[in-house]
Amino acid sequence: LRFGILASYSKNGKFKIIIDDKISLESFKKYIGFTSKSKLEKLNKIEGNENLKYFNGNIVWTKFKIEKVESDVEYVYDLEVEDFQNFIGNLIINHNSRWATHGRVCKENAHPHTDCKDEIAVVHNGIISNYRELKDELIKKGHKFKSETDSEIIAHLIEDLIEDNSEEGYIKAVKEAIKRLEGSYAVAIINKRFPNILIGAKNESPLIVGIGEDEAFLGSDITAFLEYTNKAIPLYDGDIVIIKKGENGLDIKIENNGKDVKREVIEINWDINQAEKKGYPHFMLKEIMEQPEILKISSKISSEEIKKLAKLIKDSEKVYFIGMGTSYHACIYAEYLFSKLGKLVIACDASEFLNKGVVDEKTLVIALTQSGETYDTLKAMRYAKERGAKVGAIVNILGSTATREADITVLMGAGLEIAVCATKTFTSQLMIIYRLFIEFGKLLNKDMAVYERAIEKIPKYVKEVLNKKDYIERVTKDLKVNNYIFISRGINIVSALEGALKFKEITYLHAEGMSAGMLKHGTISLIDERMDTIAIVPPKNSRVFNSIISNIEEVKARNGKVIAITPVEIETADYNIITPNVIEEISPIIYAPAYQLLAYYKAVQLNRDVDKPRGLAKSVTVE
Ligand code: AGP
Repeated sequence: LRFGILASYSKNGKFKIIIDDKISLESFKKYIGFTSKSKLEKLNKIEGNENLKYFNGNIVWTKFKIEKVESDVEYVYDLEVEDFQNFIGNLIINHNSRWATHGRVCKENAHPHTDCKDEIAVVHNGIISNYRELKDELIKKGHKFKSETDSEIIAHLIEDLIEDNSEEGYIKAVKEAIKRLEGSYAVAIINKRFPNILIGAKNESPLIVGIGEDEAFLGSDITAFLEYTNKAIPLYDGDIVIIKKGENGLDIKIENNGKDVKREVIEINWDINQAEKKGYPHFMLKEIMEQPEILKISSKISSEEIKKLAKLIKDSEKVYFIGMGTSYHACIYAEYLFSKLGKLVIACDASEFLNKGVVDEKTLVIALTQSGETYDTLKAMRYAKERGAKVGAIVNILGSTATREADITVLMGAGLEIAVCATKTFTSQLMIIYRLFIEFGKLLNKDMAVYERAIEKIPKYVKEVLNKKDYIERVTKDLKVNNYIFISRGINIVSALEGALKFKEITYLHAEGMSAGMLKHGTISLIDERMDTIAIVPPKNSRVFNSIISNIEEVKARNGKVIAITPVEIETADYNIITPNVIEEISPIIYAPAYQLLAYYKAVQLNRDVDKPRGLAKSVTVE
């Protein structure tokens, strides 16, 4: 039995299913095949069925038993799509973790959103900047809204613009409605009347079409449908895609500004088992542990593009490395590295680039973005291009927006990173930047042999640090306070900043990364037994090695606990996570797994949602 089905659930909201009125709830429940007994047990904890009720005869609202209540936010079971493994339906749109831009995180605001007759359903990523005026206009016309979101107006707008109930009339209304939207959107739209039509539209937020044997998918990125197909069509801003499933299979039409367009079909050479945990308890641990293999790939990939980018750096008067979050920390690594060759490059938080970037045709902007979809980074790239600058991008996801908008793209080769927390993609970025530094040095006729020889040793060094994971797990058991600082000097400021970000984003405890030189200028007043310090000690031959040792003593003198990530045993430290002693330029790559594991084990001990920390998205596609 096949019937039109639309299922959506939101991690912190409702579980919303729109089913054809041809079947009863009982038979519907029979058709849901649960893949795991535990999940079924969880679901059977629903108090009776009074939570299940019909709504307009075809929407079933199910509120799963509250697993834990934090403040007033309702947590429901985080159901994975595979819970519907045996689901029989022409279509499932799910929006499995709503990152709220408008309206509270609650059941009513969970996607999909429907029109007044619950026939048209929409899921949307982005921000409709003119939604208020559209909503007022639609309310005046008698439309009844069920949510506080901007997304819901799309369904009502389409409903309002339908002049005749033919297929053409519906499609025409969708195009008209999309034209009226301002702001960023990636939308997927279906209509109960036309169950074999799926429509997508994109502006600024990522949207990609997956092409299966006889089915099509829409997703924000390839991981949404990688287990079904690795053939995809990345959409461009202004694209509307109409996917029809007829007797002779799939018909996919893309148009932009009213004209049919052809878009490139790409094949992503990732297989779905990269999206499996392979026996690890969390994707994050798997991705930390696979860094030696990933670094081998990143040490060889994109050589031609790296050489070209190095040439652009040499020929440009001003060079900016821009990025957000972890990618921004990789930009700071570039700042330190290139300074060793007398080249001033500027690391800039991409969201601040428009406020302080000095851009003209002699400027080169290199964007670091593993997803290739970060709103702030894309916006800064466009800003730079509009002012005549050359734009490079160091990206992980093939076919992402950044790869299509940059003048030159360097692919990192880090493979699929499922955990929200960047780990292997960070060290992969550092490896690419390190190779860029070597190629740039060669253009200056510098002897880069010592740096080149280090490349093939990096995976082994990283493995040595990963072998300390059991010791690191034991150390985290003694981290009992709620505040942490990560300190270092020189190029390992990058490690201090990134270590703090890793720690806070998954343990939800406060951590600050800073230059140890800054301690005396304020933060040292916080140091006592209530604040632990993670000191990242540079290699022995570093100019700043002794200074960091004195900083550790200053912390100890104030009863602060010190965990050292260090190439040599530091007597005064409470714990020493010993790393190989390497040349300073590659030390941030070698140190990274140590603090990644520290953050990981602490988060596990605190029973955090390690792979999907609260409030965070893998790719921040809104401002
Ligand atoms: C880091 O762990 C976070 N996932 C986040 O800071 C991330 O690095 C940032 O959002 C940038 O993402 P991008 O590299 O995909 O642009």
